[in-house]
Amino acid sequence: VIPAGTTLAAARRLLADRLAAAGIDDAGTEARLLLKLATGRDAALAGSAGETCLDAAEATRASAFATRRVAREPFARIAGCGAFHGLDFALNAACLVPRDDTEALIDAALRLLPAGQPAAILDLGVGPGTILLALLTERPEARGLGVDVSAEALEAARRNALTLGLADRADFAEGRWTDGLTGAFDLVVSNPPYIPARDCDALAPEVALHDPRLALDGGDDGLDAYRAIFEGVGPVLKPGGHVAVEIGIGQAPDVTAIASACGFRLERLSSDLAGIPRALVFRRARPAA
Ligand SMILES: C[S@@+](CC[C@H](N)C(=O)[O-])C[C@H]1O[C@@H](n2cnc3c(N)ncnc32)[C@H](O)[C@@H]1O
Repeated sequence: VIPAGTTLAAARRLLADRLAAAGIDDAGTEARLLLKLATGRDAALAGSAGETCLDAAEATRASAFATRRVAREPFARIAGCGAFHGLDFALNAACLVPRDDTEALIDAALRLLPAGQPAAILDLGVGPGTILLALLTERPEARGLGVDVSAEALEAARRNALTLGLADRADFAEGRWTDGLTGAFDLVVSNPPYIPARDCDALAPEVALHDPRLALDGGDDGLDAYRAIFEGVGPVLKPGGHVAVEIGIGQAPDVTAIASACGFRLERLSSDLAGIPRALVFRRARPAA
């Protein structure tokens, strides 16, 4: 507990020690960010900022944030906001915290969307709008529909579309993958749940304990969502349209086989910043039956 009257600099040291003892990497930076969230002041600023004292409300907030972080709740979830592709996304309990890995899918998708041309994009499992809204920001002529089975995640997506000034080009619908959808999309993107069910509990505590299971659990082999998506997507794709999906480590051969059985051929594989194959782009090899 951080007592009221503690200076910002001393509070930062106390917090950093507590986070480090809980095994949190880069505890000094996280302590600074949590204190900034609790007080609106930055202990790293030069000058006298570090000597100002926490009032009672600030000390209570800082202590509560520290307790949550020690319980391995990620900073983005405590802040209620995560950054992706240079944008801030409001998050609620039903939203996956955006991951930098997903930049590989954005990169692959942007190659399929020529600048200055209209395009219709469908994002399956849109969550807080991470992929769809990043793409609409980059392509002002594009429009999009985001689908998610979670009404709560869609609330965050709608709010983010408004905040980012994209609400007039982004629609959202509650549903399971492509069930009941009509339309003709140039590009379908998805970062579906892809962790094999039995592996979910062994993920880092920040993920296993705090990300929604619905956003992680891909069934027995992690591939259930890809089967459903590729089986259903044909009728809503324009002729010549593409499907771009994020994948988990080592899933490229299996996802390619699933897509191929549904009439799609692999056109491109993109890797994330760690060099891990992370995004696959498919094109329909033959018209849907
Ligand atoms: C891995 S998260 C991706 C969220 C966001 N698109 C991103 O890339 O950060 C998967 C999303 O799929 C949604 N989802 C899970 N099952 C679904 C289903 N059957 N139909 C539609 N969405 C589903 C989850 O609610 C979650 O928002």
